[in-house]
Amino acid sequence: MATAELAGKHLVLGMTGGIACYKIAELTRLLTKAGATVQVVMTEAATQFITPVTMQALSGRPVYTSQWDARVPNNMAHIDLSREADAIVIAPASTDFLARLAHGMADDLLSTLCIARDCPLLVVPAMNRQMWQNPATQRNVAQLRADGIEVLGPDSGPQACGEVGDGRMLEAAASYEAIASFFSPKILAGRRVLLTAGPTFEPLDPVRGITNRSSGKMGFALARAAQQAGADVHLVAGPVALDTPWGVFREDVQTAQQMHDAVMHAVADADIFIGVAAVADWRVDHVSEQKIKKSAERALPSFSFVENSDILAAVAKLPKPPFTVGFAAESDNLDVHGEQKRARKNVPLLIGNLGPQTFGLDDNEVILFEAGKATKLPRADKQTLARALITEIAKRLPPVAGPVL
Ligand code: CTP
Repeated sequence: MATAELAGKHLVLGMTGGIACYKIAELTRLLTKAGATVQVVMTEAATQFITPVTMQALSGRPVYTSQWDARVPNNMAHIDLSREADAIVIAPASTDFLARLAHGMADDLLSTLCIARDCPLLVVPAMNRQMWQNPATQRNVAQLRADGIEVLGPDSGPQACGEVGDGRMLEAAASYEAIASFFSPKILAGRRVLLTAGPTFEPLDPVRGITNRSSGKMGFALARAAQQAGADVHLVAGPVALDTPWGVFREDVQTAQQMHDAVMHAVADADIFIGVAAVADWRVDHVSEQKIKKSAERALPSFSFVENSDILAAVAKLPKPPFTVGFAAESDNLDVHGEQKRARKNVPLLIGNLGPQTFGLDDNEVILFEAGKATKLPRADKQTLARALITEIAKRLPPVAGPVL
């Protein structure tokens, strides 16, 4: 998560009764760390699970629990609190609260706030699996969706009651991601994005191989930014220890050949292909089936290499290629090498940076190479840069074909 991603956003965070209230302490911290201001409102039941004092300390604002709170001069907390808000987020949203929302009830501060709102409403349900599956809950959730309310989750897995199934609240980090995604402009709505990220691993024998220092951070940040921009995202990832961005479909591969095959299998469905991976140029032509042993009598091992196929160039060569974007990390002469590489790979856009020294770092400075033009973007952390790059890519896309009348 980039710092200040939600700068200027003001949220009313409504908490209802449920054991998942403990996750809201962490969610509040993530939201405030990202620059949002958070006004917590709790139902009476929520205060049984976590104290208003804890939520006040984490949000840095007094918590509201009652419609009759004398701190609001005109005694209209239910109106005033939501008028400042960019969105109301109900987390955790209990079975009972979803039912009350679906039926337009307004019998406490939080439900009244919701019905009096003029901003978007997001709910993050949290309940036992039977409560979630109950036809009454499913009817209520369908009604909330029909009313334009965003339903985030629920997740599936072990529950506080000991049962396993659908209904548990999204983890704090996933809730944060879903909220951040909600606020992002949907400049890639309806587009399908295929990306490669990370290094590849080319085996020498069952335990050894050749790889490189790519961390995958830039590719994962771009996948996240594309998802937030409304795209359907398929990420083909080499071996990296990074969490899959929220809402992104991830396919893990090891070798350049596997990455090539995964891309070729999926590319027909893509509107945009972004090759961020540091793909190994070569692989050994014979991978030893046994671990290569060291011994005083034997000569040092030697390997002969064959060239891996160039995935980016192969995509660009397709009869109907998606909008194809390359990356290049160069150790010197970026201006010359960047444009040469773009032309050689025949892609409309290549993003160059002064390479290996940025591997693994959190910020980066890049130049956009396109025919006859090079544009430098300001140095930024990889998440901010990813959003800027997605905006630049979106600007260059051919318009979506409309229906033929
Ligand atoms: N690329 C690819 N398949 C390969 C090699 C590279 O898809 N086998 C893509 C990378 O994902 C990146 C771009 O091509 O988008 C440039 O990668 P780079 O390693 O800089 O290109 P190379 O052609 O290998 O050039 P160099 O000789 O500088 O290594």
